[in-house]
Amino acid sequence: MMEGLLLLGFVAVVLSRVPDDQYAGDKVLHLKPENEQHLQFIRDMAQTVKIDFWQPSSLDLVTTNRSVDFRVPADWVSDIQSRLEKIGLKYNVLIDDMKTLIENQFDQKDTSSTFYNYEKYHQWIEIESWIAKVAIENPRLISWFRIGRSYEHRNIYILRVGKRTGVVKPTIFMDCGIHAREWISPAFCQWFVKEAVQSYGKNCSMATLLDNLDFLIVPVVNVDGYVYSWTKDRLWRKTRSRNLGTNCVGTDPNRNFDAKWCSIGASRNPCDETYCGSHVESEQEVKAVANVIRKYKAIKAYITMHSYSQMCLFPYSYTYSLTPNYKELNFIARKAVMALQSLHRTRYSYGPGALTIYPSAGGSDDWAYDFGIKYSFTFELRDTGRYGFLLPESQIKPTCEETMLAIKYIATYVLRHPY
Ligand code: ARG
Ligand code: ZN
Repeated sequence: MMEGLLLLGFVAVVLSRVPDDQYAGDKVLHLKPENEQHLQFIRDMAQTVKIDFWQPSSLDLVTTNRSVDFRVPADWVSDIQSRLEKIGLKYNVLIDDMKTLIENQFDQKDTSSTFYNYEKYHQWIEIESWIAKVAIENPRLISWFRIGRSYEHRNIYILRVGKRTGVVKPTIFMDCGIHAREWISPAFCQWFVKEAVQSYGKNCSMATLLDNLDFLIVPVVNVDGYVYSWTKDRLWRKTRSRNLGTNCVGTDPNRNFDAKWCSIGASRNPCDETYCGSHVESEQEVKAVANVIRKYKAIKAYITMHSYSQMCLFPYSYTYSLTPNYKELNFIARKAVMALQSLHRTRYSYGPGALTIYPSAGGSDDWAYDFGIKYSFTFELRDTGRYGFLLPESQIKPTCEETMLAIKYIATYVLRHPY
């Protein structure tokens, strides 16, 4: 009897460690701090409990007029909830059970009869064969190259999309999947290529753009992280490179670019989500992107896709100072957001990164801007936290359709303002 109980206990411990149980019972709480006591409570909680922000943001940005979303591990939920009630900190439950939500993210049905379903999230091996296939089937519109390898030796690809005219055309560079868990981002890059392919031979605005511009598209930058977010940890953000002297893995690729590197809004601790890396461009994935942009002289705009928050951001993020072309960037962002909103009334905010989301150095947009690409934008796609990184597949189509309008606006603007 005694032995049986011990064995049961052992089995229970082992079971609770399998990744299947990851995030089971975890909640996301939406907190609305109203006074200094509330703010202090949030700061303390973040320190001692190591609860992370559902939306990664810096703790010193927690203010009384800004609400915060917290992911609370299952074991802490009842304790935290009673303490919140005690100090009168108002909150609502944004996500009741993370595990259920992770599982529900996928639609049950797959009704697509075409070779690729753009309304689903795809694993890296599927995306990789899609890249080859879409390029080979559309030789007059698309060519593909390998721009480097990831830390775990996966290929990083780029698609050049545009009608072959024999002359160098102004080029728009767009990357997706810098952060692993932001799955809607690679889904958008794939959607964009689909739209390009479908416009071929038609008389539409997309076809006009492809006649006069080239697009360089990296469907997934952080391939190792993306694979890891599918296989081991749905909420993984960073790369998968090993760090000296610690078991903590990965660097934040969007803190690893050569833009006032690690001076603000980034961490020197490899265990943090915003670890800036051992040095500038320490990540092969970051180097691969930076090398293409350095080499390819015709790039006139840089666009990078992230989620979530519904924002259109432009430089700078490493400083509160405005860029010399602030007025123009603000105008473009406003118009791009207006175009986006015209379809489904999805509310977007826009502005320089430091003021609009949070200050942080080492980002790709700031680096590209300082390199000389004066039209540089970061999109934070849907939603605003209800599903966050776990945006259901049913939202892929509306998200991509509305985002297309913003990207097409920017592309048209760039075409009409040569430099
Ligand atoms: N959520 C993005 C990030 O944390 C925002 C990027 C804005 N740009 C920047 N250079 N920080 O990476
Ligand atoms: Zn991101």
